[in-house]
Amino acid sequence: MELTSQPLPGVAHEDVPMRPATRALDGGLRPDPVTGAIAPNLVASVNNVFVPGAAGFSAEGADLTDLPYLYARWTNPTVRALEARLASLEGGEEALCTATGVAAIAAVFFGLLKAGDHLVVSEVCYAGAFELATRILPDFGISVSAVDLSDLEAVRAAIRPETRLIHAESPCNPILRLTDLRGLSEIAHAAGVLVSVDSTLATPVITRPLEHGVDLVIHSLTKFMNGHGDALGGAVIGGKALIARLRSRSGVYLGATLSAQNAWAILRGIDTLFPRLRTSCANAAVLAGFLASHPKVTKVTWPGAEDHPQRALALRQMDLGGGMITFQVAEPHAMARAMAERLRVIHYAFSLGHQRSICVLIPTAEIQASTFRMEGAALERYRTWAGEGVFRLSVGLEDPADLVEDLARALG
Ligand SMILES: Cc1ncc(COP(=O)(O)O)c(C=O)c1O
Repeated sequence: MELTSQPLPGVAHEDVPMRPATRALDGGLRPDPVTGAIAPNLVASVNNVFVPGAAGFSAEGADLTDLPYLYARWTNPTVRALEARLASLEGGEEALCTATGVAAIAAVFFGLLKAGDHLVVSEVCYAGAFELATRILPDFGISVSAVDLSDLEAVRAAIRPETRLIHAESPCNPILRLTDLRGLSEIAHAAGVLVSVDSTLATPVITRPLEHGVDLVIHSLTKFMNGHGDALGGAVIGGKALIARLRSRSGVYLGATLSAQNAWAILRGIDTLFPRLRTSCANAAVLAGFLASHPKVTKVTWPGAEDHPQRALALRQMDLGGGMITFQVAEPHAMARAMAERLRVIHYAFSLGHQRSICVLIPTAEIQASTFRMEGAALERYRTWAGEGVFRLSVGLEDPADLVEDLARALG
Protein backbone atom coordinates (compact mmCIF):
# COMPACT_ATOMS: atom_id res chain seq x y z
CA MET A 1 0.00 0.00 0.00
CA GLU A 2 1.49 3.35 -1.04
CA LEU A 3 -0.23 6.35 0.50
CA THR A 4 2.36 9.06 0.63
CA SER A 5 1.15 12.15 -1.18
CA GLN A 6 -2.20 13.69 -1.97
CA PRO A 7 -3.45 13.67 -5.54
CA LEU A 8 -4.40 17.18 -6.66
CA PRO A 9 -7.94 16.75 -7.94
CA GLY A 10 -9.37 19.33 -10.25
CA VAL A 11 -6.25 21.31 -11.05
CA ALA A 12 -6.44 22.74 -14.55
CA HIS A 13 -4.30 21.00 -17.19
CA GLU A 14 -1.02 22.77 -17.51
CA ASP A 15 -0.23 21.59 -21.05
CA VAL A 16 -3.10 23.55 -22.66
CA PRO A 17 -3.67 27.21 -21.77
CA MET A 18 -7.31 27.75 -20.82
CA ARG A 19 -9.37 30.86 -20.31
CA PRO A 20 -11.00 31.56 -16.95
CA ALA A 21 -14.52 30.43 -17.93
CA THR A 22 -13.05 27.04 -18.92
CA ARG A 23 -11.00 26.85 -15.73
CA ALA A 24 -14.25 27.31 -13.81
CA LEU A 25 -15.10 23.80 -15.13
CA ASP A 26 -11.95 22.12 -13.74
CA GLY A 27 -9.89 23.27 -16.69
CA GLY A 28 -11.21 20.71 -19.13
CA LEU A 29 -11.50 16.97 -19.21
CA ARG A 30 -10.44 15.30 -15.95
CA PRO A 31 -12.29 12.02 -15.60
CA ASP A 32 -11.72 9.94 -12.48
CA PRO A 33 -8.76 7.66 -13.30
CA VAL A 34 -10.47 4.60 -11.80
CA THR A 35 -14.11 4.92 -12.87
CA GLY A 36 -13.99 7.42 -15.73
CA ALA A 37 -16.59 9.53 -13.92
CA ILE A 38 -16.78 13.11 -15.20
CA ALA A 39 -18.49 14.85 -12.27
CA PRO A 40 -16.21 15.41 -9.25
CA ASN A 41 -16.26 12.64 -6.65
CA LEU A 42 -17.98 13.29 -3.34
CA VAL A 43 -15.63 11.71 -0.80
CA ALA A 44 -17.65 11.59 2.41
CA SER A 45 -15.17 9.61 4.49
CA VAL A 46 -13.99 11.43 7.61
CA ASN A 47 -10.83 9.36 7.93
CA ASN A 48 -8.39 7.50 5.69
CA VAL A 49 -6.09 4.56 6.21
CA PHE A 50 -2.43 5.53 6.24
CA VAL A 51 1.04 4.08 6.46
CA PRO A 52 2.34 4.29 10.06
CA GLY A 53 4.97 7.00 10.33
CA ALA A 54 3.59 8.98 7.37
CA ALA A 55 2.31 11.71 9.68
CA GLY A 56 2.61 12.90 13.25
CA PHE A 57 -0.21 13.61 15.68
CA SER A 58 -0.14 17.41 15.52
CA ALA A 59 -1.07 19.75 12.69
CA GLU A 60 0.92 22.58 14.17
CA GLY A 61 3.48 24.13 11.87
CA ALA A 62 3.09 21.54 9.10
CA ASP A 63 1.91 22.15 5.55
CA LEU A 64 -0.95 19.66 5.75
CA THR A 65 -1.23 19.44 1.98
CA ASP A 66 2.19 17.72 1.94
CA LEU A 67 0.71 14.83 3.97
CA PRO A 68 -1.55 12.00 2.83
CA TYR A 69 -5.25 12.40 3.53
CA LEU A 70 -5.72 11.45 7.21
CA TYR A 71 -8.70 13.20 8.72
CA ALA A 72 -11.26 15.50 7.08
CA ARG A 73 -10.74 18.47 9.41
CA TRP A 74 -7.19 18.58 8.05
CA THR A 75 -7.79 17.81 4.35
CA ASN A 76 -10.44 16.04 2.28
CA PRO A 77 -10.26 15.17 -1.45
CA THR A 78 -13.55 16.89 -2.41
CA VAL A 79 -12.67 20.01 -0.46
CA ARG A 80 -9.19 19.92 -2.06
CA ALA A 81 -10.84 19.77 -5.50
CA LEU A 82 -12.73 22.96 -4.65
CA GLU A 83 -9.59 24.58 -3.24
CA ALA A 84 -7.68 23.79 -6.43
CA ARG A 85 -10.44 25.28 -8.54
CA LEU A 86 -10.61 28.46 -6.43
CA ALA A 87 -6.83 28.91 -6.54
CA SER A 88 -6.93 28.51 -10.31
CA LEU A 89 -9.75 31.06 -10.74
CA GLU A 90 -8.15 33.69 -8.50
CA GLY A 91 -4.63 33.10 -9.84
CA GLY A 92 -3.34 32.05 -6.40
CA GLU A 93 -1.00 29.24 -5.40
CA GLU A 94 -3.30 27.74 -2.78
CA ALA A 95 -6.70 28.02 -1.10
CA LEU A 96 -8.23 27.07 2.23
CA CYS A 97 -11.96 26.37 2.39
CA THR A 98 -13.99 27.00 5.53
CA ALA A 99 -17.51 26.27 6.73
CA THR A 100 -18.75 29.85 6.08
CA GLY A 101 -17.51 33.18 4.81
CA VAL A 102 -17.22 34.49 8.37
CA ALA A 103 -15.08 31.46 9.25
CA ALA A 104 -12.72 32.44 6.41
CA ILE A 105 -12.46 35.98 7.80
CA ALA A 106 -11.91 34.59 11.31
CA ALA A 107 -9.23 32.24 9.91
CA VAL A 108 -7.35 35.24 8.54
CA PHE A 109 -7.72 37.41 11.66
CA PHE A 110 -6.89 34.69 14.19
CA GLY A 111 -4.29 33.04 11.93
CA LEU A 112 -2.27 36.20 11.36
CA LEU A 113 -2.83 38.46 14.39
CA LYS A 114 -1.70 38.15 18.01
CA ALA A 115 -1.91 40.30 21.15
CA GLY A 116 -0.17 43.63 20.59
CA ASP A 117 -0.86 43.69 16.84
CA HIS A 118 -2.96 46.32 15.07
CA LEU A 119 -5.56 45.69 12.37
CA VAL A 120 -6.93 48.30 9.95
CA VAL A 121 -10.42 47.31 8.84
CA SER A 122 -12.65 48.97 6.25
CA GLU A 123 -15.01 51.34 8.07
CA VAL A 124 -17.80 49.81 5.97
CA CYS A 125 -17.81 46.09 5.31
CA TYR A 126 -19.96 43.03 5.92
CA ALA A 127 -21.49 43.57 9.38
CA GLY A 128 -20.24 40.22 10.73
CA ALA A 129 -16.67 41.00 9.70
CA PHE A 130 -16.85 44.49 11.17
CA GLU A 131 -18.28 43.26 14.47
CA LEU A 132 -15.75 40.42 14.71
CA ALA A 133 -12.93 42.92 14.15
CA THR A 134 -14.10 45.73 16.38
CA ARG A 135 -15.90 43.87 19.20
CA ILE A 136 -14.14 40.49 19.52
CA LEU A 137 -10.49 41.02 18.51
CA PRO A 138 -9.83 43.71 21.17
CA ASP A 139 -10.67 41.08 23.81
CA PHE A 140 -7.59 39.21 22.56
CA GLY A 141 -5.32 42.25 22.88
CA ILE A 142 -5.49 43.20 19.19
CA SER A 143 -6.18 46.89 18.49
CA VAL A 144 -8.37 47.81 15.55
CA SER A 145 -8.89 51.00 13.53
CA ALA A 146 -11.90 51.41 11.23
CA VAL A 147 -10.74 53.46 8.24
CA ASP A 148 -12.21 54.70 4.96
CA LEU A 149 -10.07 52.54 2.67
CA SER A 150 -11.24 54.44 -0.41
CA ASP A 151 -9.09 57.30 0.93
CA LEU A 152 -5.49 56.18 0.55
CA GLU A 153 -4.17 59.13 2.57
CA ALA A 154 -6.34 57.97 5.48
CA VAL A 155 -4.84 54.49 5.07
CA ARG A 156 -1.31 55.87 5.17
CA ALA A 157 -2.14 57.84 8.32
CA ALA A 158 -3.71 54.83 10.05
CA ILE A 159 -0.70 52.50 9.71
CA ARG A 160 1.34 52.10 12.92
CA PRO A 161 4.56 50.20 13.61
CA GLU A 162 2.46 47.34 15.04
CA THR A 163 -0.01 47.20 12.10
CA ARG A 164 0.04 43.69 10.61
CA LEU A 165 -3.04 43.51 8.38
CA ILE A 166 -5.45 45.70 6.40
CA HIS A 167 -8.82 44.08 5.70
CA ALA A 168 -10.78 45.52 2.77
CA GLU A 169 -13.92 44.73 0.83
CA SER A 170 -14.49 45.87 -2.77
CA PRO A 171 -17.27 46.56 -3.65
CA CYS A 172 -18.21 46.83 0.02
CA ASN A 173 -21.43 45.57 1.49
CA PRO A 174 -23.84 47.34 1.73
CA ILE A 175 -22.94 50.68 0.06
CA LEU A 176 -20.95 49.41 -2.98
CA ARG A 177 -18.02 51.76 -2.43
CA LEU A 178 -14.80 50.53 -4.06
CA THR A 179 -11.24 50.33 -2.78
CA ASP A 180 -8.23 50.87 -5.04
CA LEU A 181 -6.63 47.48 -4.44
CA ARG A 182 -3.34 48.25 -6.15
CA GLY A 183 -2.93 51.57 -4.34
CA LEU A 184 -3.86 49.96 -1.02
CA SER A 185 -1.42 47.07 -1.51
CA GLU A 186 1.46 49.40 -2.43
CA ILE A 187 0.97 51.48 0.72
CA ALA A 188 0.58 48.38 2.90
CA HIS A 189 3.58 46.53 1.50
CA ALA A 190 5.84 49.59 1.83
CA ALA A 191 5.08 49.36 5.57
CA GLY A 192 5.43 45.56 5.74
CA VAL A 193 1.67 45.09 6.20
CA LEU A 194 -0.43 42.32 4.62
CA VAL A 195 -3.70 43.00 2.76
CA SER A 196 -6.77 40.76 2.77
CA VAL A 197 -9.73 41.57 0.52
CA ASP A 198 -13.20 40.14 0.82
CA SER A 199 -14.12 39.81 -2.85
CA THR A 200 -17.49 38.15 -2.30
CA LEU A 201 -19.43 40.82 -4.20
CA ALA A 202 -16.99 40.82 -7.14
CA THR A 203 -16.06 37.14 -7.70
CA PRO A 204 -13.06 36.31 -9.93
CA VAL A 205 -15.29 36.91 -12.97
CA ILE A 206 -15.14 40.64 -12.20
CA THR A 207 -11.97 41.31 -10.16
CA ARG A 208 -8.98 39.13 -9.29
CA PRO A 209 -7.45 40.97 -6.31
CA LEU A 210 -4.18 38.96 -6.34
CA GLU A 211 -3.45 40.50 -9.76
CA HIS A 212 -3.62 43.91 -8.05
CA GLY A 213 -1.03 42.97 -5.43
CA VAL A 214 -3.33 41.86 -2.60
CA ASP A 215 -2.00 39.03 -0.38
CA LEU A 216 -5.19 37.14 0.48
CA VAL A 217 -8.59 36.96 -1.22
CA ILE A 218 -11.57 35.97 0.89
CA HIS A 219 -14.95 34.71 -0.32
CA SER A 220 -18.23 33.88 1.23
CA LEU A 221 -18.82 30.95 -1.13
CA THR A 222 -22.42 31.06 0.13
CA LYS A 223 -23.08 33.96 -2.27
CA PHE A 224 -22.26 34.28 -5.98
CA MET A 225 -19.65 31.48 -6.04
CA ASN A 226 -22.12 28.72 -5.18
CA GLY A 227 -24.91 30.91 -6.48
CA HIS A 228 -27.84 28.67 -5.61
CA GLY A 229 -28.60 29.63 -2.01
CA ASP A 230 -28.30 26.05 -0.76
CA ALA A 231 -24.86 25.77 0.84
CA LEU A 232 -22.77 27.80 3.27
CA GLY A 233 -19.04 28.02 2.62
CA GLY A 234 -16.01 30.27 2.69
CA ALA A 235 -12.48 30.44 1.31
CA VAL A 236 -9.15 32.22 1.58
CA ILE A 237 -6.85 32.19 -1.46
CA GLY A 238 -3.21 33.30 -1.65
CA GLY A 239 0.42 32.19 -1.55
CA LYS A 240 1.35 28.66 -0.46
CA ALA A 241 3.15 29.64 2.77
CA LEU A 242 0.39 31.97 4.00
CA ILE A 243 -2.36 29.45 3.26
CA ALA A 244 -0.37 26.63 4.92
CA ARG A 245 -0.12 28.82 8.03
CA LEU A 246 -3.85 29.54 7.97
CA ARG A 247 -4.70 25.87 7.41
CA SER A 248 -2.60 24.58 10.28
CA ARG A 249 -3.41 27.41 12.72
CA SER A 250 -7.01 28.37 11.94
CA GLY A 251 -8.42 25.61 9.74
CA VAL A 252 -7.51 22.88 12.18
CA TYR A 253 -7.92 24.65 15.54
CA LEU A 254 -10.89 26.94 14.89
CA GLY A 255 -12.40 23.81 13.39
CA ALA A 256 -14.82 25.50 10.98
CA THR A 257 -14.06 23.01 8.22
CA LEU A 258 -16.11 22.91 5.02
CA SER A 259 -18.04 19.66 4.66
CA ALA A 260 -17.36 17.47 1.63
CA GLN A 261 -21.07 17.66 0.78
CA ASN A 262 -21.05 21.46 0.66
CA ALA A 263 -17.75 21.48 -1.22
CA TRP A 264 -19.35 19.23 -3.84
CA ALA A 265 -22.43 21.50 -4.11
CA ILE A 266 -20.22 24.60 -4.43
CA LEU A 267 -18.09 22.91 -7.13
CA ARG A 268 -21.29 22.34 -9.10
CA GLY A 269 -22.29 25.97 -8.52
CA ILE A 270 -18.94 27.22 -9.79
CA ASP A 271 -19.37 25.23 -13.02
CA THR A 272 -21.82 27.94 -14.09
CA LEU A 273 -20.12 30.92 -12.38
CA PHE A 274 -19.29 32.79 -15.59
CA PRO A 275 -22.67 32.53 -17.38
CA ARG A 276 -24.47 33.27 -14.09
CA LEU A 277 -22.41 36.38 -13.38
CA ARG A 278 -22.71 37.62 -16.96
CA THR A 279 -26.51 37.28 -16.81
CA SER A 280 -26.71 38.82 -13.36
CA CYS A 281 -24.60 41.82 -14.47
CA ALA A 282 -26.62 42.29 -17.67
CA ASN A 283 -29.86 42.18 -15.66
CA ALA A 284 -28.38 44.62 -13.15
CA ALA A 285 -27.66 47.09 -15.98
CA VAL A 286 -31.32 46.95 -17.00
CA LEU A 287 -32.58 47.37 -13.43
CA ALA A 288 -30.14 50.17 -12.59
CA GLY A 289 -31.40 52.07 -15.64
CA PHE A 290 -35.04 51.43 -14.73
CA LEU A 291 -34.56 52.48 -11.10
CA ALA A 292 -32.65 55.65 -12.07
CA SER A 293 -35.63 56.78 -14.15
CA HIS A 294 -38.31 55.91 -11.55
CA PRO A 295 -39.90 58.99 -9.92
CA LYS A 296 -39.94 57.43 -6.42
CA VAL A 297 -36.26 56.48 -6.49
CA THR A 298 -34.00 59.24 -5.20
CA LYS A 299 -30.63 57.56 -5.78
CA VAL A 300 -29.18 54.45 -7.43
CA THR A 301 -25.66 53.09 -6.93
CA TRP A 302 -24.29 50.44 -9.28
CA PRO A 303 -20.54 50.03 -9.91
CA GLY A 304 -21.23 49.53 -13.63
CA ALA A 305 -23.04 52.87 -14.00
CA GLU A 306 -21.38 55.87 -15.65
CA ASP A 307 -22.34 58.01 -12.66
CA HIS A 308 -20.79 55.71 -10.00
CA PRO A 309 -18.60 58.12 -7.97
CA GLN A 310 -15.53 55.91 -8.57
CA ARG A 311 -16.13 55.30 -12.27
CA ALA A 312 -12.45 55.44 -13.28
CA LEU A 313 -11.48 52.93 -10.58
CA ALA A 314 -14.38 50.65 -11.52
CA LEU A 315 -13.18 50.60 -15.13
CA ARG A 316 -9.61 49.81 -14.00
CA GLN A 317 -10.45 47.13 -11.48
CA MET A 318 -13.76 45.55 -12.52
CA ASP A 319 -14.40 43.61 -15.73
CA LEU A 320 -18.20 43.88 -15.28
CA GLY A 321 -20.49 46.10 -13.18
CA GLY A 322 -21.54 43.36 -10.77
CA GLY A 323 -24.86 41.91 -9.71
CA MET A 324 -25.45 44.23 -6.74
CA ILE A 325 -27.39 47.52 -6.82
CA THR A 326 -28.46 49.84 -4.04
CA PHE A 327 -31.28 52.35 -4.32
CA GLN A 328 -32.96 54.87 -2.05
CA VAL A 329 -36.51 56.20 -1.75
CA ALA A 330 -38.05 59.01 0.31
CA GLU A 331 -39.81 56.78 2.87
CA PRO A 332 -37.76 53.60 3.09
CA HIS A 333 -39.60 51.83 5.93
CA ALA A 334 -43.03 52.20 4.32
CA MET A 335 -41.54 51.08 1.02
CA ALA A 336 -39.93 48.03 2.68
CA ARG A 337 -43.37 46.93 3.92
CA ALA A 338 -44.88 47.53 0.47
CA MET A 339 -42.11 45.53 -1.18
CA ALA A 340 -42.43 42.59 1.21
CA GLU A 341 -46.17 42.50 0.37
CA ARG A 342 -46.14 43.25 -3.36
CA LEU A 343 -43.03 41.62 -4.78
CA ARG A 344 -43.86 38.42 -6.71
CA VAL A 345 -40.57 37.61 -8.45
CA ILE A 346 -37.93 39.21 -6.23
CA HIS A 347 -37.63 37.86 -2.67
CA TYR A 348 -37.62 40.25 0.27
CA ALA A 349 -34.87 38.51 2.25
CA PHE A 350 -31.30 38.68 3.53
CA SER A 351 -28.30 37.21 1.71
CA LEU A 352 -27.20 37.88 -1.85
CA GLY A 353 -25.60 36.34 -4.94
CA HIS A 354 -28.17 33.60 -5.47
CA GLN A 355 -29.84 32.61 -8.75
CA ARG A 356 -33.06 34.31 -7.56
CA SER A 357 -33.20 38.07 -7.04
CA ILE A 358 -33.23 39.26 -3.43
CA CYS A 359 -33.93 42.70 -1.97
CA VAL A 360 -33.72 44.03 1.58
CA LEU A 361 -33.70 47.44 3.27
CA ILE A 362 -30.57 48.29 5.29
CA PRO A 363 -31.71 51.29 7.36
CA THR A 364 -28.85 53.64 8.19
CA ALA A 365 -29.96 54.32 11.78
CA GLU A 366 -30.23 50.61 12.57
CA ILE A 367 -26.96 49.45 11.05
CA GLN A 368 -25.18 52.40 12.64
CA ALA A 369 -26.63 51.57 16.07
CA SER A 370 -25.93 47.84 15.81
CA THR A 371 -22.70 47.73 13.86
CA PHE A 372 -20.73 50.70 12.52
CA ARG A 373 -21.42 53.23 15.35
CA MET A 374 -19.96 56.08 13.28
CA GLU A 375 -19.91 59.71 14.31
CA GLY A 376 -19.01 63.03 12.71
CA ALA A 377 -17.27 62.93 9.33
CA ALA A 378 -17.46 59.12 9.07
CA LEU A 379 -21.24 59.18 9.54
CA GLU A 380 -21.55 61.98 6.97
CA ARG A 381 -19.51 59.89 4.52
CA TYR A 382 -21.78 56.90 5.11
CA ARG A 383 -24.85 59.06 4.54
CA THR A 384 -23.54 60.39 1.22
CA TRP A 385 -23.63 56.78 -0.01
CA ALA A 386 -26.66 55.48 1.88
CA GLY A 387 -28.89 58.41 2.95
CA GLU A 388 -31.46 57.15 5.48
CA GLY A 389 -31.08 53.63 4.17
CA VAL A 390 -30.44 51.58 1.05
CA PHE A 391 -32.42 48.82 -0.56
CA ARG A 392 -29.74 46.25 -1.34
CA LEU A 393 -30.80 44.45 -4.50
CA SER A 394 -28.99 41.25 -5.48
CA VAL A 395 -29.90 40.67 -9.11
CA GLY A 396 -30.59 37.09 -10.15
CA LEU A 397 -31.09 35.24 -13.40
CA GLU A 398 -34.78 35.88 -14.06
CA ASP A 399 -36.01 37.53 -17.27
CA PRO A 400 -35.09 41.21 -16.77
CA ALA A 401 -38.53 42.31 -18.04
CA ASP A 402 -40.16 40.37 -15.17
CA LEU A 403 -37.78 41.97 -12.69
CA VAL A 404 -38.58 45.47 -14.00
CA GLU A 405 -42.34 44.77 -13.82
CA ASP A 406 -41.97 43.38 -10.30
CA LEU A 407 -40.09 46.45 -9.07
CA ALA A 408 -42.56 48.77 -10.84
CA ARG A 409 -45.45 46.98 -9.07
CA ALA A 410 -43.76 47.19 -5.69
CA LEU A 411 -42.61 50.81 -6.00
CA GLY A 412 -46.17 51.82 -7.00
C1 LIG B 1 -19.17 40.48 1.76
C2 LIG B 1 -19.52 39.36 2.68
N1 LIG B 1 -18.54 38.67 3.28
C3 LIG B 1 -18.82 37.66 4.14
C4 LIG B 1 -20.12 37.31 4.43
C5 LIG B 1 -20.36 36.19 5.40
O1 LIG B 1 -20.64 35.04 4.71
P1 LIG B 1 -21.25 33.71 5.43
O2 LIG B 1 -22.68 34.02 5.70
O3 LIG B 1 -21.02 32.66 4.40
O4 LIG B 1 -20.49 33.51 6.68
C6 LIG B 1 -21.16 37.98 3.82
C7 LIG B 1 -22.56 37.61 4.13
O5 LIG B 1 -23.50 38.31 3.78
C8 LIG B 1 -20.86 39.05 2.92
O6 LIG B 1 -21.82 39.74 2.31
